[in-house]
Amino acid sequence: MISESSIEQLLNIVAIEDVVGDYVNIKRSGSRFKGSCPFHDEKTASFILTPSMGIYKCFGCQKAGNSVGFLMEIEQYSYVEALKALASKYNFELEETFDGTKEEYEAGRLKKQNQQVAMNYALQHFMTNLWDKEEGKAIGQSYFKQRGYSTAIIKKWQLGFASDSWTNLYAAVKKDKYDLETFADVGLLRKKENEEFYDWYRNRVIFPIHSVSGNVIAFAGRILGTKSDKEPKYVNSPETELYHKSNVLFGMYQAKTAIKKAEKVYLVEGYTDVISLAQAGVENVVASSGTALTEGQIRLIKRFTNNITVLYDGDAAGQKASERGIDIILEAGLNVRVVAFPEGEDPDSYCQKLGPEKFAEFLNENEQNFIYFKARSLFEEAVLKDPILKAERIKDILVSVSKIPDGIKRNALMFELSRICEIDEAILTTELNKLTKKSNFDKQKTISEELRLITNQAGVVMPKEPLTDEWQEKALFKLLLEHADKSFVGDTTVFQTVLSEFSNDPELMFTNEVIGLIFHELNEMDVPDWPGQKYYVNHSDSNISQLAIQLLNKNYTLSEHFADNHIYVLDENSNFRHELVSVVLHLRRKKLDNLIRNKISELEKSDVDVEYILEHISYLNEAKLRIANELGGTVYQI
Ligand code: GTP
Ligand code: MN
Repeated sequence: MISESSIEQLLNIVAIEDVVGDYVNIKRSGSRFKGSCPFHDEKTASFILTPSMGIYKCFGCQKAGNSVGFLMEIEQYSYVEALKALASKYNFELEETFDGTKEEYEAGRLKKQNQQVAMNYALQHFMTNLWDKEEGKAIGQSYFKQRGYSTAIIKKWQLGFASDSWTNLYAAVKKDKYDLETFADVGLLRKKENEEFYDWYRNRVIFPIHSVSGNVIAFAGRILGTKSDKEPKYVNSPETELYHKSNVLFGMYQAKTAIKKAEKVYLVEGYTDVISLAQAGVENVVASSGTALTEGQIRLIKRFTNNITVLYDGDAAGQKASERGIDIILEAGLNVRVVAFPEGEDPDSYCQKLGPEKFAEFLNENEQNFIYFKARSLFEEAVLKDPILKAERIKDILVSVSKIPDGIKRNALMFELSRICEIDEAILTTELNKLTKKSNFDKQKTISEELRLITNQAGVVMPKEPLTDEWQEKALFKLLLEHADKSFVGDTTVFQTVLSEFSNDPELMFTNEVIGLIFHELNEMDVPDWPGQKYYVNHSDSNISQLAIQLLNKNYTLSEHFADNHIYVLDENSNFRHELVSVVLHLRRKKLDNLIRNKISELEKSDVDVEYILEHISYLNEAKLRIANELGGTVYQI
């Protein structure tokens, strides 16, 4: 912890114009300074510094703050990183509070400093090997070239080369009289039994791993060529005072500005994926370095964006790993999208194969919400044949959805899931609620009897387009044919009620074309008046007359067919009013579903106000819920 008094002292000596002046061309204007805003594109200079208050303010984009805030914004520093950067600019020593003794604190700080010196030394050493030594030029450079890396990108990422020698780094460190033990602490050197040091990275290309603020805190050394049985593909730095693996993402330092700008980060598996993509112009990319994503890494991402797009290898292992990653990202409240690669390809290989333009296109076109990615397993042949397996898979998706802290987002996804697996949303929601209530994770793996039953039925029936809308529409017409002139409420007839509900309503598309035609005709009438049963029975359009006759046929029992589709309809003779309410509500619900569906597809576009749309969806969902309540808990399949 940095002490408050120390921060105050530092801010007293900091001049905002010095700090901002490092990034923006500013001109004095009276007691203030003016420049063009670094945070948005502008032609007029609306970026103003007020030195007396130590603040900046942009009148164009409204960004404002003090020196610390400015550095946090422009460098994407954390608060502490910004303070440290300021302190080092002014050669000011920040006082840090510490639980242990002052000696312990000093010792720790010194150790960390020395480790940083060792890392910086090694970085220079590996880069010199690559660029200035014959061995590095011949072997290291040609390896990178063969991977398709440009000179600019190799330099930008500070890639290096470790010589095929046991003493190359060791000899240099010794000659320059650095502390050998520190190099051993950070894993650059190791000790033999006779206490003699030797190089740990040998005959490998070197990928330096940077902290968010750009210090080299670890190295990954890759063997040349393909995997060998004798040696691991990668050798990595151990945990040190500088390097806490679970809080670091490879490429974050280089990617942070691009991530902020794109409002999205691409997550890949490996070092080479990051670098290939960056070279192809996809700069908002980081790697978890082959291991499962940690909470610390997600916290780091959250500093820059809430949107993660996971790029998965085309192989099965890659997909499994990414699926596990999804849940912990969801739990952190971030939005997850997925791009799956063709089998046998990883982001690196596929990017090299397609080239920059085609690759960018591929990413844009194949990005999908995680729920679709997970749901693809529902359509595997084995799953289609086996309802139990299908129930398990649905459960698995529900577990993921249950991790999402935001109820509105959960709702929107539940709607989508119900559409994908063609199971009523109410049933899925009941399952979901069970999951969120359960603390015992093992219990989540058992499938409830209800879900099993449903998938069993659905596995047999599974209509692509549920029939129910058509039945409801026909029921509506049948009600008109039989009861149009009767009173519904007070003076209002059934006909008037139906017409006011369904006139000129573009949102409500009738599924049945003939019914659509009938309502179109009614809506075209100048003075709406019920044409009468006979009019329809004798209609010039034979489709309409056929339907009217069919519906008026006494042998025809609606309720039987409704029952097939889990729809409960009262006997029409006993209570046509009740039936009308039920049919109207059902069709209203369909209309809401269409609206929600449209809203959800809007979410897939970029440049939309996500929060606003989600709010809208939640509002529509509430309306739907009210309808469900009015329907008295009747389960309707949509
Ligand atoms: P190719 O695609 O075969 O050229 O190899 P690559 O260098 O891209 O690595 P690969 O795709 O096999 O692995 C992806 C990531 O997993 C790497 O970037 C590493 O972070 C990690 N990884 C792979 N092998 C090892 C290993 O042996 N040890 C460690 N620590 N990490 C590894
Ligand atoms: Mn790879």
